[in-house]
Amino acid sequence: MARMMKVAIVDDEEDLRQSVSQWLALSGFDAVAFASAEEALKVVGADWPGAVISDIRMPGMDGMAFLKRLMSLDSALPVIMITGHGDVPMAVEAMRMGAMDFLEKPFNPDRMTELAKRATQARRLTLDNRALRRDLAEGAQVMGKLIGSSAPMERLREDILDLGQADGHVLIDGETGTGKTLAAHALHAVGPRAGKRFVVVSCAAYTEDVLAAKLFGPVSEGGGLPLVEDARGGTLCLEDIEALSQSLQARLLTFINEQGTPAETRVIAICNTHGEGRTVEDALRADLYFRLAALKILLPPLRNRGEDILTLFARMSEQFAEEYGCPAPVITAQEAAQLLQAPWPGNVRQLINIAERAVLQNRRGTGSIASLLMADNEDAGPAMTTEGKPLKDYVENFERMLIDNTMRRHKGAITAVMDELCLPRRTLNEKMAKYGLSRADYL
Ligand SMILES: Nc1ncnc2c1ncn2[C@@H]1O[C@H](COP(=O)(O)OP(=O)(O)OP(=O)(O)O)[C@@H](O)[C@H]1O
Ligand SMILES: [Mg+2]
Repeated sequence: MARMMKVAIVDDEEDLRQSVSQWLALSGFDAVAFASAEEALKVVGADWPGAVISDIRMPGMDGMAFLKRLMSLDSALPVIMITGHGDVPMAVEAMRMGAMDFLEKPFNPDRMTELAKRATQARRLTLDNRALRRDLAEGAQVMGKLIGSSAPMERLREDILDLGQADGHVLIDGETGTGKTLAAHALHAVGPRAGKRFVVVSCAAYTEDVLAAKLFGPVSEGGGLPLVEDARGGTLCLEDIEALSQSLQARLLTFINEQGTPAETRVIAICNTHGEGRTVEDALRADLYFRLAALKILLPPLRNRGEDILTLFARMSEQFAEEYGCPAPVITAQEAAQLLQAPWPGNVRQLINIAERAVLQNRRGTGSIASLLMADNEDAGPAMTTEGKPLKDYVENFERMLIDNTMRRHKGAITAVMDELCLPRRTLNEKMAKYGLSRADYL
């Protein structure tokens, strides 16, 4: 059923106010009456879900001043003015100021219903469009937080855009700190549920009883809605799904089975099958696993994202530099190579952390990126190992990345790239051919 649209009636004459609102209520509008413009302005403003019918001659703020105020709050608000005998010039002036139409006293109830209908239909369209634009903006904003243009990141973006539109629940997998929670939020924000609630809870953060109450109720006094209710129509994002107990798995499955198709509430389950211990497939009962894992997104580890590591490092250290009010560190080619070949067990979160410490170090004028990486990766084995890869591979990766980066910045202007890298044209051409880089891709 369509939402009932509101019509605000503003008139100082009680009889008229009452008869108009009764008539409108009978015609299927949600009529709200106000005795003065001042009273109405406490309630009616931008995004008012309906239309306004106002008298012109009123004590205090008159109809014209009221109209002017309403137009400044929301210029698309449909306002219908009630005019007395011989007020035609004023009606004309009101239309010029943005009123949608006017009704002459004594008025014809059918004409009033007709005008109210037109006004509220127009209003509904305006508000729907506004909501749509806001939702698109939210999606773009969250997608904009995902930094990186490596092939794995471009694939991730495509997956998010595709699955954002798809029906069904989603399983997100990936190492710690790769951006799983961020991807879940993006998935919500680019789909039809944008603008609805996005509710996140970690299944590992509470004891079974507390989690059961949080999810399904009853919640303690003042605790708000159970999360399944809170997320209704939107997305329920369950982090650390592998920690969900057997009995809660059963309840989640029941909840999912009651959703219908397409699901009213989308469940996004997040797991980390790369830690120690059981995999998510082992941890979940099979029927639940298959309901959740029909659509899957895998977050690539940072070490597979090539030059994104440098882009992320640059962007993050700029942000921290601004925050701390000091210059961002300029990294040397050697440091860039170290960042590129670090194992990054903590992925993007670890990189953000290192960027912050690099900024602070730079402010003090001490330390090096190598020492930060070394200290940070102690637990994960020796830092910057070649992990059995020959040095030549790293050198080639780095060379490819540098050329690719430089070509990109110069939009394929070969001479500028030759200059910057101090390479003769023939060598540059040979290297590009070797790495499968084509000038045409940068123009
Ligand atoms: N591609 C990216 N660009 C920019 N920031 C990112 C990117 N991916 C992740 N981040 C940031 O890195 C941090 C970690 O991301 P997030 O919390 O989404 O990871 P996670 O995989 O959910 O981690 P965990 O396994 O601990 O739950 C956050 O601050 C997030 O904003
Ligand atoms: Mg997370």
